[in-house]
Amino acid sequence: MSRPRRSLITGATGGMGLACARRLGAAGDSLILVDLGQAQLDALRAELAGDAISAQGLVCDVASPDQLAKLAAVVGDGGGVDVIVNFAGLSPTMADWRRIMDVNYVGTARLLDALEPQVRPGGVAVCIGSNSSYLLEGIPAVSEVLRDALAPDLLDRLAVLDEVEEWSPALAYALSKRGVRELVSRLAAPWGQRGARVVSLSPGITDTPMGRQEYEHQPAMHEMAKLTPAGRDGTPDDIAAVVEFLCSPEGAYISGSDVLVDGGQTAALGALHR
Ligand SMILES: NC(=O)c1ccc[n+]([C@@H]2O[C@H](COP(=O)([O-])OP(=O)(O)OC[C@H]3O[C@@H](n4cnc5c(N)ncnc54)[C@H](O)[C@@H]3O)[C@@H](O)[C@H]2O)c1
Repeated sequence: MSRPRRSLITGATGGMGLACARRLGAAGDSLILVDLGQAQLDALRAELAGDAISAQGLVCDVASPDQLAKLAAVVGDGGGVDVIVNFAGLSPTMADWRRIMDVNYVGTARLLDALEPQVRPGGVAVCIGSNSSYLLEGIPAVSEVLRDALAPDLLDRLAVLDEVEEWSPALAYALSKRGVRELVSRLAAPWGQRGARVVSLSPGITDTPMGRQEYEHQPAMHEMAKLTPAGRDGTPDDIAAVVEFLCSPEGAYISGSDVLVDGGQTAALGALHR
């Protein structure tokens, strides 16, 4: 009998992470759930156990190289991993610009770097971006610094760029997620040589604790949401369904690219081709 697929989900106790854990678990995957809090992970594992879904819960801050090294060792001891889905992220109202960049972008790069040796042939990593990364022009000088994703002085180099007048959390959020898209396109070739794929998925406004917190602090989002051609906000399961597809054999020809899952909002705002 073949062994079950092993799928690691970060930000697993968040809105999208939970929906994805339910979907991949229901499909028979053996889950490795990663997040910041042990108590939340224990509660999630107990909930999934009720549906006969087997899951391991591991505390890890994706911005911490030491914690990621430990995570990779545990994953390696378990025989590697087939699927990585990185939902771990901070929105503009959750932290200052440095922490947002460190978790959303550097954390994604560090996670992929730490786990890549543990990815089995045929494996795939799905990195969660955001459609906000399409809503502003990129800044070439920022992209240039972000290319060296694992440089220890990356945040200090960003801080002194003349091209950025002021680093706000919102700017860092959008550029961190743009960085995720650019990272994925750079990694497709080296991952392909190992028989693995790497893709990004950019959600639009989605009904999760994060989405609700942003609505509360940024009333202008309501006006933007009215322009969404789908006529509603996304649900966590809208995102999980696409993740499931990207990780399935049907998604096997997709690598290095971004999939927008935003109900058409980015297109309606005329921001698709920046
Ligand atoms: N909800 C939206 O409207 C929306 C829109 C676009 C993109 N996104 C992105 O989707 C992803 C998932 O968001 P969500 O809406 O489910 O948010 P959420 O806040 O419900 O969940 C995020 C999870 O990430 C975890 N996390 C945060 N920092 C971490 C770290 N350093 N290490 C490990 N885990 C960490 C949190 O504990 C939380 O469980 C995020 O990357 C977010 O930026 C969300």
